[in-house]
Amino acid sequence: MTLNASHPLMDGRTADSPLITAYRGGKPERRPVWFMRQAGRSLPEYREVRKGIAMLDSCLKPELAAEITLQPVRRHDVDAGIFFSDIVIPLKLAGVDVDIVPGVGPVLGTPIRTAEDVARLPQLTEEALEPIREAVRLTVAELGSKPLIGFAGAPFTLAAYMVEGRPSRDHLGPRTMMHADPQAWNALAAWAADASGMFLRAQLEAGASAGQLFDSWAGSLSLADYRRHVAPSSARALDHVRGLGAPLVHFGTGTSELLVAMRDVGVDVVGVDYRLPLDEANRRLGGTTPLQGNIDPALLAAPWPVLEAHVREVIAAGAAAPGHVLNLGHGVPPETDPEVLTRVVKLIHSVEP
Ligand code: CP3
Repeated sequence: MTLNASHPLMDGRTADSPLITAYRGGKPERRPVWFMRQAGRSLPEYREVRKGIAMLDSCLKPELAAEITLQPVRRHDVDAGIFFSDIVIPLKLAGVDVDIVPGVGPVLGTPIRTAEDVARLPQLTEEALEPIREAVRLTVAELGSKPLIGFAGAPFTLAAYMVEGRPSRDHLGPRTMMHADPQAWNALAAWAADASGMFLRAQLEAGASAGQLFDSWAGSLSLADYRRHVAPSSARALDHVRGLGAPLVHFGTGTSELLVAMRDVGVDVVGVDYRLPLDEANRRLGGTTPLQGNIDPALLAAPWPVLEAHVREVIAAGAAAPGHVLNLGHGVPPETDPEVLTRVVKLIHSVEP
């Protein structure tokens, strides 16, 4: 199982880029940075092209998805594009009734709560993923030597939406289900693992040079529940893309106690949220895992000297790890001034690696 010889990671375009070098634990010539949610509402050019087009529809128009992915790369000179899509796109492409309601998030027509509900879920097909592959091909043709990062939602985070039917705070539905009806839970998690795994694989095969699994809501789990009821299905999602040679990153929020378990599902890089300093994250991981993170998104709205001092601290703390890619500790808040992001990128690139 390998990538095509004309894939950007194989034909010399991205293999030695700062991002891929750091993900592989090396020291690149400039310190790489990208931002989760760098594409999106913080950019006026995004708001302009999205006018009158629903979120999930915009993800399925290949030219538009490619354009939105490229916008922040052009504007900020970040070291990677993150593919513009959403973790619920595989559900939509499988035929599940799901929408993204502005200001709310993913909402399902019918929540999935029983073994029968799970058994009725439609299967995602390779064919349905064609608009994703096309958008990735268009994007990497423009990106040149800058890598594209593909992504997918981890089964727990996806299931958190599927069981509740909408965003929730404490994710009680899926956390109850894994104990009350472990069989139904395992079937749901396996369905989500395969849908996400296929979605990520489609992006990597079509030209993405790295992949990130988002388990954004894993922080609501105890370590014991994570290891027993969640990690096996996250590993199953990644089974779809192991051996391709593209570095894999695993990120969640509130996951300070889960970092080792998240690494152990079999990834190259761990994404750290803003709660834990990177030198402590590195200590917990035994000093052998490249890290990504972890500028506090709240500080993007603070006065520049405060933000600058924070970014320098993150750089210093990250130096302990075998490789460090700067990012935020979660996504760019929609109200962020994009000029601040550009300035943060310039600052990071100006510090000697
Ligand atoms: O730059 C990028 O990161 C672009 C691609 C991207 C989006 N969603 C676009 C998007 C990625 C990687 C995601 C992943 C995603 N989607 C996650 C994991 C990452 C995280 O933030 O924790 C989650 C939990 C979702 C589910 C989701 N989709 C939520 C909670 C929302 C916000 C709803 C709202 O309106 O506040 C979305 C919608 C969404 N996905 C937007 C974008 C740019 C905003 C929709 C819009 O612009 O109208």
